[in-house]
Amino acid sequence: MAVDYSLMEKEELIRLLNRLERRAKYGLHFEPQSENFLDASSHHTPRLRYIKDKHIRGNGPEHIFIEGENYHALQVLNHTHKQRIDLIYIDPPYNTGNKDFVYNDTFVDTEDSFRHSKWLSFMSRRLKLAKELLKNDGAIVISIDDNEFAQLKLLCDNVFGEDNFVECIPWKKKTPKGVPPRNMMANTHEYLLVYQKSSEFRFIGIPRDPSQYPNDDHDGKGPYANAGQNLKSTIKSQDEVFTITDPNTGRTFTDTWAYSEKELNRMIAENEILWPKDDTGQVRAKDYLFGKRNQEKALPSEWISPYSGRDESFPNVQKNTEMFKSMVPTDAQFLNPKPINLMQYLISVTCENDAIILDFFAGSGTTGHAVMNLNAADGGTRRCIICTNNENRIAERITYPRLVAAINGWKQGKNTVLGTNAALTYFELRYLENKTTADETYLNLRDKHRGITMLKHHAFEVYHLQEGSASLDFVIFGGAESTGPVYSVIIFNVSSIPDAVAWFEKEGIRENVHFSVFSYGTFAYEDDFPETELAYTVSPYPEHYLVSLETTRKIGG
Ligand SMILES: C[S@@+](CC[C@H](N)C(=O)[O-])C[C@H]1O[C@@H](n2cnc3c(N)ncnc32)[C@H](O)[C@@H]1O
Repeated sequence: MAVDYSLMEKEELIRLLNRLERRAKYGLHFEPQSENFLDASSHHTPRLRYIKDKHIRGNGPEHIFIEGENYHALQVLNHTHKQRIDLIYIDPPYNTGNKDFVYNDTFVDTEDSFRHSKWLSFMSRRLKLAKELLKNDGAIVISIDDNEFAQLKLLCDNVFGEDNFVECIPWKKKTPKGVPPRNMMANTHEYLLVYQKSSEFRFIGIPRDPSQYPNDDHDGKGPYANAGQNLKSTIKSQDEVFTITDPNTGRTFTDTWAYSEKELNRMIAENEILWPKDDTGQVRAKDYLFGKRNQEKALPSEWISPYSGRDESFPNVQKNTEMFKSMVPTDAQFLNPKPINLMQYLISVTCENDAIILDFFAGSGTTGHAVMNLNAADGGTRRCIICTNNENRIAERITYPRLVAAINGWKQGKNTVLGTNAALTYFELRYLENKTTADETYLNLRDKHRGITMLKHHAFEVYHLQEGSASLDFVIFGGAESTGPVYSVIIFNVSSIPDAVAWFEKEGIRENVHFSVFSYGTFAYEDDFPETELAYTVSPYPEHYLVSLETTRKIGG
């Protein structure tokens, strides 16, 4: 209800004015908008349901697909992957007003006076949770266009800190064609907004191309390029002129130079100069492939050469669409995925080849496909976690079949495209209704916590299970991290702990074992573990998960 200032006492008005004066005058202001599910979340607990039939087993890295609401997926990931993610890429709804952004089950249109506030509330909640997942040297890259660019920049300044803004990369996505717009400027680009978790982040530059370094004197300095670096200085004064001599021809060159006389004489003596063929040519330093301070070239901030659309090697949208359609024959109205090459380039220049990459607006799964392609190309062990809801049944009709095709290969016209060595675990994000007492809620999670444990410990195969008289005693899962095998044990019945430890002793397994012990509180029954050579860690469940959920509710709102 609007305040009637005419009814206020003078002192009250002065107090109000003083308060308004003190308020921040610069920055992002929006009206926080609630999301329906937030109410429901207070009496429901998100869980992951492992879908065995959709598990694609393979020799390569195990990727994760979570179908469901990304806010809750981020809550789960705050328990399983806090500070473990190298790169987050997202391509959220751009809020064009053209049926792309659903808020509380309704499309937001341009007439909605809370249009920007709704989008900002939606993004703010998710970005705050996403930030907690990044490693210190990690970064988040967000696709966006003019509809929300300005709002997103200010929001990210708030969430990640202005100092952690890295770059706003314009990406040219198309060439102008068709009827020109009324204002005679065709919009052909959008942006990739990059924020780092901390100053430890750096891009991986562009590797130098060895074919550009065809010469070698076989003196241990390695190959060098044809065109060297001009040694003339344009900034030194005429007082600093001196003469150098080509020892092979005796020709002299008098000028101001980029290096001191002593250093140039050293370079001449050590054969590091490319001398010109005649007096008018330039004296140059040999440009050695391995002599660089940085082994890579810095990336240009306008993208993406060669994927900017200016270059022949850029797959135009039609080619990308052809590939997409042949992977997923469908009539679904989702024909605007990001180009796979754009995603491959982005990932390859942003993180190492053993990185964990998260996309929580995964749509058709381009990020997952790109990660698989990169691993196939360079033998990397990147792992990808992708999450998307099932809007228009996209998860079941497009995302999952596309990733299966990327793993197994597919037919494109007359060609067969080879698959990639990868595996995929599929989870549905679902909810457990909280019970009236805490103990009942804990008991409810006793048998419904497996998915979360599988994800946290990256162990997806049941290696062994022991049945008790009435229910399961324990389950042992196995998996493979890039560092080697890992094991995760869920203990349902505390009295079976010695049997579970004995299983590892019998199998000759000595390390990388984690026990999650069901408990109604913070105790993990450490005293019930027998003396053993086994190197293990232990934690109670579901306590840590429930505490983490509470924390994320405070962070995400
Ligand atoms: C713009 S598309 C992403 C396209 C993707 N980059 C690609 O190349 O296919 C955004 C996707 O996020 C999904 N999405 C929107 N809101 C979501 C939410 N709250 N939780 C999970 N997914 C969501 C939409 O269904 C849509 O498929």
